[in-house]
Amino acid sequence: MPTRIDVTNGSCVYVERVEDILAQLLPDKRVIVISDTNIDRTHHDLIAPYESILVGQGEQAKGLATLEDVYTRLIELGADRQTFILGIGGGIVTDIAGFVASTYMRGVEFGFITTTLLGSVDASVGGKNGVNVGGFKNMVGVFSQPKFVICDVALLHTLPEREFRAGMAEVIKTAILGDRELFGMLEQSSFEALRKDDALLESVIARCIRVKADVVAQDEREGGLRRILNLGHTIAHAIEKCSQRYSHGEAVAIGLHHITKAALADGVISEADGSRIISLIERYGFDTELPVERKLLLKAIEGDKKRKGNTIHLILPTAIGKVEDRVVKLTEVRL
Ligand code: GLY
Repeated sequence: MPTRIDVTNGSCVYVERVEDILAQLLPDKRVIVISDTNIDRTHHDLIAPYESILVGQGEQAKGLATLEDVYTRLIELGADRQTFILGIGGGIVTDIAGFVASTYMRGVEFGFITTTLLGSVDASVGGKNGVNVGGFKNMVGVFSQPKFVICDVALLHTLPEREFRAGMAEVIKTAILGDRELFGMLEQSSFEALRKDDALLESVIARCIRVKADVVAQDEREGGLRRILNLGHTIAHAIEKCSQRYSHGEAVAIGLHHITKAALADGVISEADGSRIISLIERYGFDTELPVERKLLLKAIEGDKKRKGNTIHLILPTAIGKVEDRVVKLTEVRL
């Protein structure tokens, strides 16, 4: 059953087959695709009908040097303010495409087709599009909503297991912070079942997008409520800063595990709910050990863009489906 979820400012997410919806959504304009070399191999048919710019892969590609290359290519192609940018890929591609589209000639329209689970439930939805600078994640960016995002579960069939699992970290995060029923569904289900069952996966993705859309609609520019979407991310970003071992989603799973342990130690979550969260993360096959020394992670947290002076907002789970935004001194952060 196709699903359309309104986010904010006219931005919509469609959980639907690309071939059933894309033609209706693309405006009658020149379309330039931004994608990457891997997607060009795995989903060439999606890219082939359009002029395209392919970027490199991995977090290293999400930097200022790539932006310069893409702007230069757009100028060479003669892209103007009437051009529509279509980002096709995972979170790295959609971040680059969204940032480029929002700044090229002071902004052109754009939309996304997301090809990863992480992109479908988180990275391509919500309008934050940015790039990394100096090893710090998403340090430069914009709030700018895509006209549409298409999440087609058929595109996820080719995802390697490791990438699918990384996306599951954001699914679990969403369930913890805002959807107790989804959390129960994940407990009843399994990694293998979600890989195989498109209908189940579509309903899980749609639930995650609804939670995110609801939060973004209330606080698009992250003045308050939206911070809850960063559950597990302060630790995750610090891990990503200090080590190349884990992808973003894998680092989020470690972050969720450790922030839940901190919440248990502080007594802000019941033993029952805290243990269910820890068990679910383990059952979906995530590593949970911190890959670097705590003192290095704490130093990296000091560089987090969400830091305010010597304090930082930490999002703590207080029950399954509920979180609390706490301002803590950097010296009081415990891992
Ligand atoms: N683009 C990701 C977000 O807005 O949260």
